[in-house]
Amino acid sequence: MTQLERQRVFDLLKKDCQHLLGKEVNVKGWVRTRRGNKNVAFIALNDGSVIHNIQVVVDVKAFGDDELLRNITTGSCVSVNGKLVESQGKGQKVEIQASEIVLYGSADPEKYPLQKKGHSLEFLREIAHLRPRTNTFGAIFRIRHALSFAIHKFFNDEGFYYLHTPIITGSDAEGAGEMFRVTTLDLKNPPLDEEGRVDYSKDFFGKETNLTVSGQLEGELGALALSNIYTFGPTFRAENSNTSRHLSEFWMIEPEMAFYDIHDNMDLAESFLKYLVGYLLENCEDDLAFLQKMYDDSLFDRLNMIRKNVFERLTYTEAIDVLEKAGKSFEFPVKWGVDLQSEHERYLVEEVYGKPVILTDYPRDIKAFYMKVNDDGRTVRAMDVLFPKIGEIVGGSQREEDYEKLYGRIKEMGIVEQDVWWYLETRKFGTAPHSGFGLGFERLMLFVTGMGNIRDVIPFPRAPQNAEF
Ligand code: 4AD
Ligand code: MG
Repeated sequence: MTQLERQRVFDLLKKDCQHLLGKEVNVKGWVRTRRGNKNVAFIALNDGSVIHNIQVVVDVKAFGDDELLRNITTGSCVSVNGKLVESQGKGQKVEIQASEIVLYGSADPEKYPLQKKGHSLEFLREIAHLRPRTNTFGAIFRIRHALSFAIHKFFNDEGFYYLHTPIITGSDAEGAGEMFRVTTLDLKNPPLDEEGRVDYSKDFFGKETNLTVSGQLEGELGALALSNIYTFGPTFRAENSNTSRHLSEFWMIEPEMAFYDIHDNMDLAESFLKYLVGYLLENCEDDLAFLQKMYDDSLFDRLNMIRKNVFERLTYTEAIDVLEKAGKSFEFPVKWGVDLQSEHERYLVEEVYGKPVILTDYPRDIKAFYMKVNDDGRTVRAMDVLFPKIGEIVGGSQREEDYEKLYGRIKEMGIVEQDVWWYLETRKFGTAPHSGFGLGFERLMLFVTGMGNIRDVIPFPRAPQNAEF
């Protein structure tokens, strides 16, 4: 085959490729469909760089290799040399008149599972190793990339530093959920102490260790030195919740800012979310348009709604009042002191306010130990951002910076002091008011793609009874 520089389909279709018109180019990719007749074959080729295919036209007689053409079926992978020309047909600007084709890999039509369009998302989850080759998952994973990039860009432009917090942790101070244990002990025959309990001092790290549920506590150490930091990494929760909004392994973005109070924290969360949605509207239009057409006809409206509205801000106590007066029978009844369920959150967002809502000042007893206690003694400076379709998308707070108060909360909640001595020291030495929040990356992905199940917005979902691939 003649050596030519490979062109991405994205560049051939998008960029000003006038200078390539009439020239020989090379493309490589996977065949979506092949149709035609005795005289001419049309191959729709996709290389994942963009949702669109490029059409390859083969003059069958001139090409002269029937055997090769027969093997170019849906799912096979080819390298094509040919002339880039303006397309005669409808639906595409340019196409390639093939002169040489190399078949990298065939895909037996009897066995390749992605023959026809219109597979269910449930079926595609069972073939997560191949689903990236569908239009839907190509679009989702490109959006996932763009969103990750936008997160780093936002924080970099705002003067935040990206802090890498550990994945293996020796503390469960967050109390955010059940943890996955990390151990190299022999499960059949673990070392025991005098009381017959497993002796973790003999384990790899010389203590009990787990996969982290949040990078926040270490993030605070960074903020109390660098002022503004953020983390963006995987977090793990072993809750047995088989819902469309929970994963056992999910990605979280956690900014933490010295000298921010709860209001600064809310302002940051709101402008951050608006920036991210705006970035996608400006950079992922084709993929979003595809998802709107296939899955969610109100997708663009919802994205624009985030960009254009000022988020509603009210306290938990005010929200309980609204919910009690709603005259609706919720599955979980509401009264002051209960944790809100997604039915309550979505009622507030979708039916009462019609825009995102930030709830603040939750009861102390349903929130984590590190949240700053208000003067009333019974609420804390927590904030949750609630989105339509999703419910809670962000959780955060102003942190307790007073050593005595924080120490009191730790004792009250039965947290082992040795696990968090280092966290406490930041309040002993040069403490400062500070705040932060956590954004669930896949929750945001659900919102911006219009997908209904969180397992469809991460390449290889981890959920109870599910760790294939
Ligand atoms: O509200 P959470 O538990 O807050 C924290 O972990 C704090 N340390 C954050 C902070 O202040 N730095 O989790 C934060 C967000 C939730 O609002 C939700 O979007 C997402 O993480 N989340 C999950 N996403 C997918 N699957 C799960 N099992 C999730 N649990 C929480
Ligand atoms: Mg939360």
